[in-house]
Amino acid sequence: MFFIRLLRSYRPLALSFGVCLLALLPAHGQASEETNTTAQPYSGRPVTQIYNTYCIACHVNGVAGAPRIGHAEEWQPRIEKGIDTLLKNATNGFKAMPPKGLCFDCSEDELRGAIQYMIDNSPSN
Ligand code: HEC
Repeated sequence: MFFIRLLRSYRPLALSFGVCLLALLPAHGQASEETNTTAQPYSGRPVTQIYNTYCIACHVNGVAGAPRIGHAEEWQPRIEKGIDTLLKNATNGFKAMPPKGLCFDCSEDELRGAIQYMIDNSPSN
């Protein structure tokens, strides 16, 4: 009996607790939507800044055989390797291409962005 009386006196508290839980529900729905998105947000300096500071030195004039920006035919065989291979080669160095294109503080995101920038600016049509 004591227990039931205790429960009754706490009923308003239990109700407001329930309301709080309901208030949290929509927020929870949003959170799970966010984790379902596959697109990764870009975090880093603007890709044009990376390109213009580092990559441009070789990739505008084709120094040592670097694929030139704006020349689709030079990028095509590279593109076919896939962005993951290109990123790996650009990170570790590849023949005359120096590791990280000499941008030693570049993050993976920034390097990937700079590669994508050169590819996007070398369209085949
Ligand atoms: C010192 C000159 C130099 C700089 C600076 C440079 N590159 Fe390169 N890069 C090269 C050369 C040379 C090649 C061609 C290597 C080969 O295939 O012989 C190349 C090739 C590449 C490739 C193709 C790799 C492959 O697997 O075919 C990518 C991607 C690339 N560079 C990205 C970058 C990025 C991004 C930057 C700037 C952060 C950069 N490079 C800066 C010289 C340079």
